[in-house]
Amino acid sequence: MEINNLQNDLSLTVRELSDTYEELSLLYRISEIYSTLSIDEICLRIVDEAVSTLSVKTAAVLFLDEKGEILYTKAYKGAWDGERKFARDDGVIWKTIVTQKPSAFCRIKETDYCDYIQGIASLMVCPILGKRKAVGAIVVADKEFGEEFFSNDTKLLMAISSQAGLAIENAFLYSELEALLVGAIRCMVKALEAKSRWTAGHSERVTEYALGIGRVMDIETEILEKLKICSLLHDIGKIAVPVEILNKGTQLTETEWREISRHPSAGAEILGEIKQFKDVILGVKYHHEHWDGQGGIFGLRHEEIPLMARILSVADTFDALTSDRPYRPTNSKKDAIDEIVRCSGTQFDPAVVEAFLEWVNA
Ligand SMILES: [Fe+2]
Repeated sequence: MEINNLQNDLSLTVRELSDTYEELSLLYRISEIYSTLSIDEICLRIVDEAVSTLSVKTAAVLFLDEKGEILYTKAYKGAWDGERKFARDDGVIWKTIVTQKPSAFCRIKETDYCDYIQGIASLMVCPILGKRKAVGAIVVADKEFGEEFFSNDTKLLMAISSQAGLAIENAFLYSELEALLVGAIRCMVKALEAKSRWTAGHSERVTEYALGIGRVMDIETEILEKLKICSLLHDIGKIAVPVEILNKGTQLTETEWREISRHPSAGAEILGEIKQFKDVILGVKYHHEHWDGQGGIFGLRHEEIPLMARILSVADTFDALTSDRPYRPTNSKKDAIDEIVRCSGTQFDPAVVEAFLEWVNA
């Protein structure tokens, strides 16, 4: 009898331990979500995690709209109507948001929610809570082998949603900060371009060209974001160049050239105050380097020059050649492309020139 009791106790303990282990390893896996900051990617990973951890056929992440009145689908897998929106107080998902507690419903066809979602037999919903309020909900439906949802499933879904809430809130904060930063950067660029009518719109155009080249080169999204900031700011150091030199209508003297070629270093110094800008600063500092190491400002060559700077160099030159300059007539687009091809392997990285040609001829 005692042995039986011991065996029961032991199997219960083993079961509890395995549940705890499952929960802990889930938390560990989800904490990796923090390594990616794109909201879309976070939501897709939450859905994948919910499907595999809870062995369900369907999972969806829903977000509240800005006014907090409509729930819409952000990511889903399985039999879910991704287009459907849920207005306030429409069914169990809203109830979960309002009460901020998870709910599980089995055999929903026999409950009040019979017409709620077509073709779904059992459902579990958990709110996604940020620090101050609910930001949305996770829905999972129909276990793979038709089992009911148990309390451990609720615990696992709560673990997923609590990590998701933190990750999503961080991502929101990050994107707000980024928007603020990009706004501030555009102000800096406007201040620079107001100094010289010859450079008006230059930074925005260079940004467009550099991103075009970067996309052809399959550069990952995070680096493209940095390339965007780098392109917008590449000439920010010209703020330190006297306006008479920037606006000079004739060829520059050697002293004036020396003055103007200080702008990459000056730009890097200005941006040095922003610690998160390490890659951007290097791109700004080296955007006038030449691939073969001849004729640049710092004498770097080949891969010593950061990729961002090599891309910028082509984009910057293409815009300079196709824009009005006080000391020479505008080149045609064809002449500008020919000039860039001519300088491939000397001034420019041949791989970047190849990507540029693919982009410009697309
Ligand atoms: Fe420049």
